[in-house]
Amino acid sequence: MIKKIDIQLTDIEKSYDRVVLDKVSLQLDNTSFVSIVGKSGAGKSTLMNILGLIENYDKGMYRINDTIIKRGHDYAKLRRECIGFIFQSYNLIPTLNCRENILLPQLYGKSDAGNFDEIVEDLGLGGLLDKQVVYLSGGEKQRVGIARCLLLNPSLIIADEPTGNLDKDNTEKVMRLLKRENEKGRAIVVITHSDEVAGYTDKIFRLESGKLNEND
Ligand SMILES: Nc1ncnc2c1ncn2[C@@H]1O[C@H](COP(=O)(O)OP(=O)(O)OP(=O)(O)O)[C@@H](O)[C@H]1O
Ligand SMILES: [Mg+2]
Repeated sequence: MIKKIDIQLTDIEKSYDRVVLDKVSLQLDNTSFVSIVGKSGAGKSTLMNILGLIENYDKGMYRINDTIIKRGHDYAKLRRECIGFIFQSYNLIPTLNCRENILLPQLYGKSDAGNFDEIVEDLGLGGLLDKQVVYLSGGEKQRVGIARCLLLNPSLIIADEPTGNLDKDNTEKVMRLLKRENEKGRAIVVITHSDEVAGYTDKIFRLESGKLNEND
């Protein structure tokens, strides 16, 4: 079962040496399948890190279900319970095999993890489990990354350029997989430079000059 998630970001501001996010608002629930596009340096990863409870914001309001996210608190538990990440460069451990990579986050404990066998079967990884990930193709590596993410049964998946290193066929495969997970009831946010990738999602947002606007 996928837990209910209801996310509200309101007027989020974040600056480093300059303003990166300027009153950004975004609402997500289990039905959301959105992409965020924008130039390099526009603040996409910053926004994802805030959404993913990795980084603090300066001003505004961020709520996940009944929890108001405040500065300086530790949200590791909430993050583990609700949020899964998929990365452009896969973030796998090269010396471990596929099985170990997929199971690794479970070492950090989560009671309602997904079904390993079902996920592996579903992603076509059955024949690869004993292979060291260093020998896999990019598309295979990303499917291992997706399996690792799904095993924690996240209500929200944050994918930062998940197809950035993939060819057209594998890009399509990954986006179809994400679409399917969305249809099961997971909120999905994809960061991408590619209009083609963004085209798979239901809503496209553009981040520009600190502002997040829905594309029309
Ligand atoms: N920890 C940090 N300290 C200082 N500046 C930072 C930090 N993180 C990001 N920035 C700056 O904030 C701006 C936005 O960075 P961010 O990584 O969010 O951009 P992005 O849209 O993800 O870019 P890309 O498409 O290249 O990944 C950049 O100017 C970056 O240099
Ligand atoms: Mg980035």
